Amino acid sequence: MAKIAVVGAGHVGVTYAAGLAELGNVVRVVDIDRAKVARLKRGQIWFYEPGLPELLARGLKRRRITFTTSYAEALSRAEFVFVCVPTPSTGDGSLDDSKLRLAFDMIRKHVAEEAPIIVNKSTVPVGTGDIADKLFADAGLRVVSSPEFLSEGRAVEDFFHPQRIVLGSRDDAAAEAVAKLFAALRAPIVRTDNATAEFSKLAANAFLAMKVSYANALARLSEAVGADVEAVTRVLSLDPRIGPGHLRAGLGFGGSCLPKDVAAVEHLARKHDANPDLFGAVLRVNRDQRSRLVDDLLSHFGSLAGRRIALLGLAFKAGTDDTRDSAAVALGEQLLALHADLVVYDPVARLDLVNGDERAAVARSALGAARRADATIIATEWPEFAGIDLLALRGAMRGNVLVDGRGVISPGAARAAGFEYFGFGRGGNGSA
Ligand code: UDX
Repeated sequence: MAKIAVVGAGHVGVTYAAGLAELGNVVRVVDIDRAKVARLKRGQIWFYEPGLPELLARGLKRRRITFTTSYAEALSRAEFVFVCVPTPSTGDGSLDDSKLRLAFDMIRKHVAEEAPIIVNKSTVPVGTGDIADKLFADAGLRVVSSPEFLSEGRAVEDFFHPQRIVLGSRDDAAAEAVAKLFAALRAPIVRTDNATAEFSKLAANAFLAMKVSYANALARLSEAVGADVEAVTRVLSLDPRIGPGHLRAGLGFGGSCLPKDVAAVEHLARKHDANPDLFGAVLRVNRDQRSRLVDDLLSHFGSLAGRRIALLGLAFKAGTDDTRDSAAVALGEQLLALHADLVVYDPVARLDLVNGDERAAVARSALGAARRADATIIATEWPEFAGIDLLALRGAMRGNVLVDGRGVISPGAARAAGFEYFGFGRGGNGSA
């Protein structure tokens, strides 16, 4: 059992805190946001993450996890400090590490005579671990760069069944101590230096993004040559050298990680004059996907002004309420700009698009959103949309256009239900 402080009560911080408490440790989480801390103390999590509320409740009940706004309280007698603060993208693609630096300063200020091991989970600019090492050296603090690989919607599962644990440090004993914390998870451990650990996280996410853009580039070509991208990517996925993940064509990748991490790698490549072309292309293909459906709708309807359009899904992917850099939200905004009469529905997402925006209406169900719609767009791959009753959907609408932005509907089934099907690489857009 170790005493652990977690800095930052976001997706990563709360998941790590609850997971580490479940593994038998005593965890104190510090965040500067009073409202967040007050809610978390009552076991209320401010975002949607399946399984996390139950895990947190267990930690609170066993008194293994507490929340505070005081660094002094969180750091008192801590043996480890997990840093889990956001590092968003700046305008030029680099990562904004201002919150991280603030956290480092606060840690530096508040550790007393104890010398905890700093475990950095945030996705950071490469080189941060070495800077932190210098910053903390005189206080005797040792730094381990251990990027998180949690995927939203399955973060709890990812915590308890990690594919790998990366530990980058100059200090073998510190890395060993962190490895011990996770020994029960029996994950492969990669021991390396700080820069390699930091870069491996960016490299992994850029690769996942590249796979999505690759699938999307194939989707375009599939349309041109009369192939079905779904079958093409299935063929690819059966080759273990390629693997099945992140090959679904559609509106492209969004969220708080993939877009910013590819941009960060592109920025790094430009900075070091190391050919950024591949990474730039991944981003460009992704951007094109977002405008492509609007172009299809415009050529079908002529104008979208006054057209009633049901937008199913706002979250950047299924399994989360997160709408950060969501392709669905970007699409909704484009439709509003073209004066479409927009009705949105998402089973759990925060309705950021429509909050305070009188141009869009919110429905309480998919069929409710589709009522009297000219077109329905599936923009998030929620299972509820993939399994929607197509006849009921067609019956609710006044038009017959179904736009499958996530490749979750069979074009044949859609046509059999009376739809004109628009999608990505699934056989001739709009052709009945
Ligand atoms: C990602 C990484 O998967 C995770 O390991 C890392 O730690 C954080 O970043 P996340 O941002 O939660 O996780 O989402 P992910 O599941 O990777 O999906 C990202 C985006 O790609 C979503 O918008 C999703 O809809 C899209 N996507 C994913 C596709 O368009 N096609 C696919 O085949 C897979």
